[in-house]
Amino acid sequence: FAEAKPFKIGFILPMTGQSASTGRQEEAAIKLYMAQNGSTVAGRKIEVIVKDDGGVADQTRRIAQELVVNDKVDVLAGFGLTPLALATAPIATQSKTPMVVTAAATSIITEQSPYIVRTSFTLPQVSIGIAEWAAKNKIRKVVTLVTDYGPGIDAEKFFKSQFQLNGGQIVAEIRSPLRSPDFAPFLQKVRDAQPDALFVFLPSGQGAAFMKQFAERGLDKAGIKLIATGDVLDDDQLNDMGDVALGVVNSHHYSAAHPSALNKKFVTDFQAANKFRPNFMAVAAYDGMRVIYKALEATKGQGGGEALLGAMKGQIFESPRGQVLIDAQTRDIVQDVYIRKVERKDGQLWNVEFDVQKSVKDPGKAK
Ligand code: DHB
Repeated sequence: FAEAKPFKIGFILPMTGQSASTGRQEEAAIKLYMAQNGSTVAGRKIEVIVKDDGGVADQTRRIAQELVVNDKVDVLAGFGLTPLALATAPIATQSKTPMVVTAAATSIITEQSPYIVRTSFTLPQVSIGIAEWAAKNKIRKVVTLVTDYGPGIDAEKFFKSQFQLNGGQIVAEIRSPLRSPDFAPFLQKVRDAQPDALFVFLPSGQGAAFMKQFAERGLDKAGIKLIATGDVLDDDQLNDMGDVALGVVNSHHYSAAHPSALNKKFVTDFQAANKFRPNFMAVAAYDGMRVIYKALEATKGQGGGEALLGAMKGQIFESPRGQVLIDAQTRDIVQDVYIRKVERKDGQLWNVEFDVQKSVKDPGKAK
């Protein structure tokens, strides 16, 4: 018999540069998934190719072309930042290759190609919960501070509309650059505006530097509460942030402290193999592998762009984050969003979940 061809998954990730933690987290999660589930599915050997785009869109586009044309990958996956996913969408469409987005989180991404399936999250999805929590907890005036690109603008817009709907007031809207931001001048503006709270979104990897400057500028001492999406209190960096992070309330879809049996096993196994804690990027890559494995299984090892895509749509399963669904219409993930507070337990900092919004669809999709 002829050996069945290997089934190739081309992951494009930022392994270097400002977003390197996303690549490191996702690669570790891919390895863990394969260690737990094997590297053969329906008779096909799984071959994962990880390529570093350094977080630069022109590189992502070039690598995606090479993976499709030369390596003939069956699936494209990864995409650590929104512009990198947007650069690849036309290649997925032209080549009819399923493109599993395991990081980038601007709402519109899934609408850029019918071949995109997302296992991460969207900023509108996680920004509404913290807006509601703030309005219910005596926070009236808020300044928003977001990174000036797709996910930041989504966070700003959806936080604002929900907070205003619940009676809150936005007194200033600040945007910081994506590349090497210095937060000091922005934090001075926030101090001057004297809001009850500052709402922040920054992409994974920038949280620790921000928290340090927040404390150095004395905003906590000035009585300005910090609220955020969980990207800022990222499990990748949280434990090194120190006391300034204690008590910060934030909303997100994954905490390494999520108290399910499945998550406890995921975190234990992940930490046994790596010197760091898994974050929300790791979980999205782990679940992305699950979605791909199950789709290949459903096609009995045949694969094929259309067939795989069809088998990805509608998958329902328990993730380390909780119950999730790949919405068959939007190809985006439906999941629970948790309100969490940073607490110290056994000498370590954790996002401890204390409230939940169940089965949240991306509110950014046109109704
Ligand atoms: C994006 C990147 C991140 O690191 C994050 O935490 C959220 C969104 C993005 O570029 O889409």
